[in-house]
Amino acid sequence: MEENRERPIGIFDSGVGGLTVVKQVLKELPNENIVYFGDTARVPYGTKSRETITHFAMQDVRFLLSFNVKMIVVACNSVSSNSIDILKRKFTLPIIGVIDAGAQAACQYTRSGKIGVIGTDATIESRAYQRKIEEKCSVKNILARSCPLFVPLAEEGFTGGKIPEMIAEKYLVEMKEKQVDTLILGCTHYPLLASTIQDVMGEDVMLVDPGVEVAKRVKKYLTENELYNDSPYSGSSKFYLSDIPRHFEKVAENFLGGPIPSPVKVTIEDY
Ligand code: DGL
Repeated sequence: MEENRERPIGIFDSGVGGLTVVKQVLKELPNENIVYFGDTARVPYGTKSRETITHFAMQDVRFLLSFNVKMIVVACNSVSSNSIDILKRKFTLPIIGVIDAGAQAACQYTRSGKIGVIGTDATIESRAYQRKIEEKCSVKNILARSCPLFVPLAEEGFTGGKIPEMIAEKYLVEMKEKQVDTLILGCTHYPLLASTIQDVMGEDVMLVDPGVEVAKRVKKYLTENELYNDSPYSGSSKFYLSDIPRHFEKVAENFLGGPIPSPVKVTIEDY
């Protein structure tokens, strides 16, 4: 029987974007074993209905449970914002999403109380970030908008230069006009465009990467619950996908910031 501490952390996302969260978790917790699932056959989730997102997310969780994971990190903002409560009700293991951590950080960083949130349609329309921020710091000036083109730009590696800059200018014009001082990058793909977004918004604007914030929470949770893997060796990471997309390796490397071991294909509909 595997020691509780050595059991892996399960992390899932609608596709490869969640690798930006894996990157932060590994930075914070290099000794942990990770099992990642990316639903590359059914991505994007961000354009789908709450029912479909929840249905997919339940299958993703059930798949990860087959690895005896000690906790699950929902890297996907679209799932975290639409389905986290249902997942927490249906499953007994600890499940942690990115919304609370991102909202908390934004409340801590803002000085003017003007906070911006960008994400997929599913995330923005759910108002999950907006509600969490209002609850945590009673800020009323929250500006939110979806930036759908950022997802393919990040996947194509179009993260700097004229084209992403023009698109960012268009999406963020109101955020700039209203002078938000803190902006949540509420989608797994957006950290890849952080430097372009920073250039457009100006250097005084604080960008919040919920992946960074959730990694700190995972560490805190594991430590407080004596689940922290104190092995002296680096952990191992395994990657499972519902489809192996073309050019996967190149795209994944950009998101993870380094080479990725060969992923294994799974039939997620079976779960
Ligand atoms: N991973 C998704 C998110 O963070 C973005 C891609 C998608 O729409 O599935 O919301």
